[in-house]
Amino acid sequence: MSPADGPVRIDVPTPSRGYTVTIGDRTLDGVGHALDLLGAPARRFIVSSPLVWRLHGPQLARSVPAAEPILVPDGERYKQLATVSRIYDALLRANADRAATLITFGGGVVGDMAGFAAATYLRGIALAHVPTTLLAQVDAAIGGKVGVNHAVGKNLIGSFYQPHAVFIDPMVLGTLPRREFRAGLYEVIKYGMTSSPALFERVARDRKAIFARAPEALTPIIAQSCRIKADIVGADEREAGLRRILNFGHTAGHAIEAITKYRRYRHGEAVGYGMLVAAELARARGALADRDAKALADLVASLGPLPPIADLSAGPIIESMQHDKKVSAGKLHFVLPTAIGATTIVDDVTEPEIRGALKRVGFGK
Ligand SMILES: NC(=O)c1ccc[n+]([C@@H]2O[C@H](COP(=O)([O-])OP(=O)(O)OC[C@H]3O[C@@H](n4cnc5c(N)ncnc54)[C@H](O)[C@@H]3O)[C@@H](O)[C@H]2O)c1
Ligand SMILES: [Zn+2]
Repeated sequence: MSPADGPVRIDVPTPSRGYTVTIGDRTLDGVGHALDLLGAPARRFIVSSPLVWRLHGPQLARSVPAAEPILVPDGERYKQLATVSRIYDALLRANADRAATLITFGGGVVGDMAGFAAATYLRGIALAHVPTTLLAQVDAAIGGKVGVNHAVGKNLIGSFYQPHAVFIDPMVLGTLPRREFRAGLYEVIKYGMTSSPALFERVARDRKAIFARAPEALTPIIAQSCRIKADIVGADEREAGLRRILNFGHTAGHAIEAITKYRRYRHGEAVGYGMLVAAELARARGALADRDAKALADLVASLGPLPPIADLSAGPIIESMQHDKKVSAGKLHFVLPTAIGATTIVDDVTEPEIRGALKRVGFGK
């Protein structure tokens, strides 16, 4: 795919609002014009972090004339109501009324927090996401989940609030630290495992060009990921059924993040391990061919070494899984792969099975 092909457009047909994701080089330059065409209110606020604003703000500001920036810190520990309050304060100080559009410009933390502010300020103002991390481009910006963390746990306060548009420019990934970039790639592999052998194979095949951040290698994997997420959230906006397959790798992944207090692993890295654990569980049950489990392990390994886990023991991981909010009616749900591109959801995984899988993936006793 060359830039001459023009941007890729993907429709997200959720019942609460349909919108389009635009993906392509220099998408950033067309944000203001695209919002005008959509009839998005003309007073525009951009919520970003100081770092992202310094790196890419001037380019976005050229495309959204007279936009008013609101800068907030974006580490995971700032993803809390106090930061959302700062966004409300800025909007109130500027006398923003309902005829305002809020544009989020940053990673998933900024998108989730500012999206929540847009959902709740005056009971909801127009929202557009311009995600700047690979993880936010393939995942957080699509599907309408917005919210913040609570001291008790991640993402406990929030809402579903679909944006009016999403603009994805792969060029901004050029400044993303390598570790953040890789973290997003594990989520791309997740989509391949749940829904698309073609995407899975493309990551393996184009790995070098992807790591070189070549737009012609990035655009197709971002677009395929977005298409999969768009189809799934279009069919199941509020995660009543199908959308749960996107939790593949997240049951163990969330537990690994939680027991290390969200400090040691990037979310995507924990999902990398979580996918290996789920694949091991499936393989041991005879639900996944050895060949496919090995293909996943090889692809995950090909992205580079994940941070060590040998000092993490099974007990706390299993205990944390029981607390996971996806425990419904006392049952722990696991999304297990049955092939590359196919999954099944089970609720009868036993503790010894989990222990065995964790051990084989390399966790301590
Ligand atoms: N809403 C959803 O459906 C959904 C889905 C997945 C994840 N999330 C949420 O997303 C968050 C994680 O998002 P993330 O991985 O993007 O992390 P992040 O937002 O913390 O960003 C990671 C780091 O990258 C920096 N950064 C962002 N863009 C950059 C760029 N172009 N160049 C250089 N640096 C840049 C940021 O300043 C930050 O330090 C979590 O809070 C998670 O809960 C939400
Ligand atoms: Zn995830």
